[in-house]
Formats: sequence, C-alpha cells, structure tokens
Amino acid sequence: MCILRERDQNRYHITGNSEPVKKLKESIEKAAPTNASILIMGENGTGKELVAHTIHMLSKRCTKPMIEVNCAAIPEELIESELFGHEKGAFTGAGVKKKGKFDIAHEGTLFLDEVGDMSLKAQSKTLRILQEQKFERVGGSRTIHVNVRIISATNKNLMSEIEAGRFREDLFYRLNVVPIHVPPLRERAEDIPELISTFMEQSHLKGEKGKKRFTDEAINLLMHYKWPGNVRELKNLVENLIIMSEDDVIRLIDIPAPYNQSQAAKDELGSFLNIEGFRAARNLFEKAYIEAKLKKFKGNISQTAEAIGVERSNLHKKIKAYGLDALKERVNCEL
Ligand SMILES: Nc1ncnc2c1ncn2[C@@H]1O[C@H](COP(=O)(O)OP(=O)(O)OP(=O)(O)O)[C@@H](O)[C@H]1O
Ligand SMILES: [Mg+2]
Repeated sequence: MCILRERDQNRYHITGNSEPVKKLKESIEKAAPTNASILIMGENGTGKELVAHTIHMLSKRCTKPMIEVNCAAIPEELIESELFGHEKGAFTGAGVKKKGKFDIAHEGTLFLDEVGDMSLKAQSKTLRILQEQKFERVGGSRTIHVNVRIISATNKNLMSEIEAGRFREDLFYRLNVVPIHVPPLRERAEDIPELISTFMEQSHLKGEKGKKRFTDEAINLLMHYKWPGNVRELKNLVENLIIMSEDDVIRLIDIPAPYNQSQAAKDELGSFLNIEGFRAARNLFEKAYIEAKLKKFKGNISQTAEAIGVERSNLHKKIKAYGLDALKERVNCEL
C-alpha cells in the first residue's frame, strides 16, 4: 500500500459508516490492488470521483500518475486527439505533435469520467487499447504500447445506452470487470451527521469563519431530506450556511427552503408582508387559503365550506371571483 501525504488522505477520505458505505469501502479495498478495470456507477454527486481517486491511491500504481478525462466536457471531434494524441499536421490546427492522455497515464491509471458520453469512434479505439494495450496517434502510423489501468465512471444506465445503440456492448464488458455502485445519500441518511462534521472541518481549514456547530434539530431535519443532488448538494448547503450564518450555532431557522418546509411557509408569509395595501394582501391570502383547502377536500365545496366556516354560496362566489373554478374541476377530474 502507498504511503500517502496527509493532505491527500484527508481530501480523499470517504466519510461514513452506514452499511452501504461499509460495503462500498470493502469493494474498493478488494479491487484496488488488482489491475482490473473498474466501472463506478451512481447518481450525480454521490462521490464517484472520490471513489476513483481512492482506488488509485490504494493501488500499486499510486506513485504513478492518475490522469482524468471528462468525456462529457470534450467536444466529439477533439476527444480522439485528447485521448490518443496526434502527430504534427494530423488536422488543421495540429501544429505540433501532442501526447494523448493514454500516453501520459503510462504505468498509472486513466480515469474516464462520464464514460457514457464518449463518441462511438473513441469507444472502438479505447476497446482496442483494453484488448491489446496499443494504439496509434491521430494522423500517425507508429504503434504505441502502453500499460494503463482504466477506471471509468458514469451516472447513465449503460444497458439502456447499449440498447439505444450509443454504447458498445463489448466495451461495456471490458470496462465493467469490477462494477462498483456508489449509493445515493437518501439510502445512507445515518452518515449525514458525520458528513456535516467533515464539511465543517474542511471549511474551517479553508479559513471560512470560525468553528460552528449545528443543533440536533437542524441535523435531524437534514437527515429526513431526500437529497436529489446527493453528497455534493449537502456539502454546498453546509458551506453556504457557514458563510451566511452570523451566529456560531446553526439552528432550524437558519436552514432555507426546500430543506426546511416550515421556513418555506415563513418565506411565503414574508411575501404577503411585502404587499402594499391591506385589501390586496387579504385577497392574496384568501385565494391561497381557499385553494389549499379545496385541494385538501378534493374539490368538494360542501366539505370545504364546512371546514373553513364559510356559507356554501359565499364560498362559490369567492371561488369564481378568484378564478379557482378550473382548479375545482381539475381536482374533481383527478378523482
Ligand atoms: N463519502 C464522502 N465523504 C466525503 N466527501 C464526499 C463523500 N462523497 C462525496 N463527497 C464530496 O462530495 C462532492 C461530490 O463528489 P464527487 O465529485 O466525487 O461526485 P460524483 O459522483 O463524481 O458527481 P457527478 O456525478 O456530478 O460527477 C465532492 O466534493 C466530494 O469530495
Ligand atoms: Mg464526477
């Protein structure tokens, strides 16, 4: 195993002790020391790049470079030259010979991030390297031999990409010798308190304001959120709260919508308070209130009228005046 610099150990530490994270760490420890190709799969922001770095650091190649290529960020016409390099004069603008990422990663690791976005042409050349460990530069005929380990990552479902004809099945099997799934944050909510501490510590080290702490209620609220943007979204929120909060303690009230629904209600109330004129504010409130209650009682006027203590005929008039007839009908249709 490599002796890592302390900075890298902190930067690439996978925080968490939940069952899914324990399993993830076990798979990484087993796969890292081998030379097998690894395909990391997971939703946006789950930590795929972090996993790739960890694998390289635990591998026998850790003293050699890990070269990253973001296949989604490189235009299709440039990806070949980026990966395999080009000879002088290979195409307009190729003034000098350029080494490709495969060359540079020799004896190390090549990380093909967002591999699902690679063009079909680049896919077939990559397949050949995986099979034979050799290739030619764009515009060149000399065969170059390389010894590269490939780690790739994607948030796409590659099986569907294969069915749609956008991804080569043979390449998929070559890349996917060891599949590693990174779980979404909602399946490991118990890691959230530790992740929050990690991100606070990282921010503190970066010098962003003094040490702060979250109240138990605030942490509990964040543990019940669904996190569509996964760990990245949580990290951004923590950094944002550290910068924005004046106090050393981050409370429920400091947490904005959509994480905090009661805060969302207060924001809505705040928007009423900004309206000039009592009548306009009252009308807006009345409309929002009737709308919410109509939805609750699935468009039933009698039940709504009784629940809010208004005459049935009066409610009818208000529904008409506020243009809520369409809503009433829609709710009825949905039944
Ligand atoms: N388990 C974890 N412990 C600590 N930090 C984490 C963890 N998982 C993710 N992070 C942090 O969250 C951020 C997003 O992670 P990363 O970039 O690896 O995700 P990704 O899956 O590659 O995202 P995308 O699909 O958008 O490319 C990074 O700052 C990373 O350091
Ligand atoms: Mg990534």
